[in-house]
Amino acid sequence: MDCNKTGVLESGAFELIGCSPKMQKVFDLIPLLARTDASVLITGETGTGKDKIAEIIHKKSARARFPFIKINCGALPAGLLESELFGHVQGAFTGATRNKRGMFELAHHGTLFLTEIGDMPLPLQVKLLSVLDDREFVPVGGEQKVKVDVRIIAATHRPLREQIQNNTFREDLFYRLHVLHLHLPPLRERGEDIRALLDHFLYKFAKALGKQLVGFTPEATQALVDYHYPGNIRELSNIVEYVVNICKKKKIEKDILPPYIFEMPQGKERPELSGEGREKTVDAAPAVLGEDERVAKSWNEIERQMIVDTLKKFGGNRTHSARELGWGRMKLYRKMKAYGLM
Ligand SMILES: Nc1ncnc2c1ncn2[C@@H]1O[C@H](COP(=O)(O)OP(=O)(O)O)[C@@H](O)[C@H]1O
Ligand SMILES: [Mg+2]
Repeated sequence: MDCNKTGVLESGAFELIGCSPKMQKVFDLIPLLARTDASVLITGETGTGKDKIAEIIHKKSARARFPFIKINCGALPAGLLESELFGHVQGAFTGATRNKRGMFELAHHGTLFLTEIGDMPLPLQVKLLSVLDDREFVPVGGEQKVKVDVRIIAATHRPLREQIQNNTFREDLFYRLHVLHLHLPPLRERGEDIRALLDHFLYKFAKALGKQLVGFTPEATQALVDYHYPGNIRELSNIVEYVVNICKKKKIEKDILPPYIFEMPQGKERPELSGEGREKTVDAAPAVLGEDERVAKSWNEIERQMIVDTLKKFGGNRTHSARELGWGRMKLYRKMKAYGLM
């Protein structure tokens, strides 16, 4: 079950863990995706590594010396997203006091990573499609066309084909982006990777916190291997960060693991938790576990602590914190309010 060295793909500062056959296939595709300039669509549940893989593809490509710009299409209202992407000219709208370059221009010669592309409003999908075709666009409120040389990587946790069926995603844009497609399997389909990921994150967080931890007890390891991680690698990382934080011994023992990992049905997906990964799980967990208040409470404590730690890490910056947590700013705001953090 353990990963050996071949399960690690190293690329400069990046380290990708995965000895499972499914991840090995992904690793094999990365150099190919890096070698071309075609658009890539990365799909997979929240927390499966879409952002990380996008960045690695860029870093291994001929564009590596130029910027990698990431924008979350689900985190901003349509008007703001348009001006973030394409820039605006002075006077384009109230508050546009000067010309502002958009992400497309900032990513010139580099890669623009459009995450949560499934959340992009339809009118912007039209504009994006025309940029992909013509490699030029007009900033909001402007007249002059701007030419750009940008490679697009898009990602989504949504089933885009279903969105095409219900007319929330344009079919032509889908095929334009889908030229190269990479699917990241959920962690529960690559259980072989769990042990290596646990060690990887234990090392990372223990080092960051200056703690002398030597590992997990066999019972703790077993419990963590048995858990089904609806929030995928991000959830695993959060759990390890949490236990490293609170651990007072040399080894991480089973009794300090978050209780909810024992309460969830093992090996069996709860229908209401499937598909959308952690985004949904975080919201659903306390309600699902409503009968057992102790569990719900401990989940809330973990989540609250996670928010506090992230805010601390980014000096209170909510935009950066939300990004780190994989949430939109509004979601972070709501959670902070709910936990009395503002
Ligand atoms: N194969 C991997 N090996 C090690 N860490 C990973 C791997 N895939 C993802 N991660 C880490 O897991 C977390 C979630 O990954 P991310 O790319 O943000 O997922 P997504 O964009 O699919 O929600 C990040 O901290 C990322 O660095
Ligand atoms: Mg992401």
